[in-house]
Amino acid sequence: MNHPEILLLRHRIELADSLAKHTQWASSIGFVPTMGALHPGHLALVERAALENKAVVVSIFVNPTQFNNAQDLALYPHTLDRDLALLSTLLHLGTPIWVYAPGAEDLYSDGVKAQSFDFQGLDSVFEGADRPGHFNGVGTVVSLLWKAVPAHRVYFGEKDYQQLCVVQALKRMEHRDLEIIPCPIVREPNGLAMSSRNERLTDSQRNRAAWIYQTLQEVADRGRAAAPNRLSPHGLRSLVTRAAQEAPDFQIAYFDIVTEGGMTPVDQWVTGEKYRALIAVVFHGVRLIDNIAL
Ligand code: PAF
Repeated sequence: MNHPEILLLRHRIELADSLAKHTQWASSIGFVPTMGALHPGHLALVERAALENKAVVVSIFVNPTQFNNAQDLALYPHTLDRDLALLSTLLHLGTPIWVYAPGAEDLYSDGVKAQSFDFQGLDSVFEGADRPGHFNGVGTVVSLLWKAVPAHRVYFGEKDYQQLCVVQALKRMEHRDLEIIPCPIVREPNGLAMSSRNERLTDSQRNRAAWIYQTLQEVADRGRAAAPNRLSPHGLRSLVTRAAQEAPDFQIAYFDIVTEGGMTPVDQWVTGEKYRALIAVVFHGVRLIDNIAL
């Protein structure tokens, strides 16, 4: 099925044929990999890709190898028609959009299994510690997608900050000639980071979940280099522990401060270094992540 004005392709070979027919766009392809269930955060990535390239490819594929929890995979929403309708709202930008929505057998032609990467420890902490094997699954599918889509620029949201660091490492390991474009987190009006998982919360829970960003803002206010009486990394950890004691509906999976681009927790500030605070919470059974630059 081809949605009006959006080209939907189910097979790698069709995508390659279709792109080859349009050589006028081949020199500048922006790529946005997604698992569907698109929300304004994804649309911001596609919009930016449409403004910075002659053509855009959006992949929609719920990647089984990055789920270490069968229930999480089963619960993941599949909303292709809605996703296509949302993408068509960006066609006014004048950039053609290909949607590559393969079945597992098309992308994983050698069997649906994760490759094992050496991400030098980037993958073993935080999300990786809580979800063993997750980043091998992400690395595997991103590597396969990069083979299928001849992209010049690939757009990733900063919400999944650790994923961004992992795909940057993957690009270096595979010597890929493409540019990774990190894009700022898109938030609900109350500050909650946009995520497909927010769909699992009621309206009042979503309002309450603004606590996560409020806490991160407090961390940034007290941890920025220019902050009066700047707290140490340890002081910031204690601040979040105290905030969580007053908000028992949030279970903190982790909170920490890392240097930008790395995943090693820091104990003291080094002048000139940039930092990020990372948080994951479980709230009414839904795991939510967020981060803020300090
Ligand atoms: O961020 C996501 O949606 C996924 O992890 C990605 C990058 C599309 C790989 O499946």
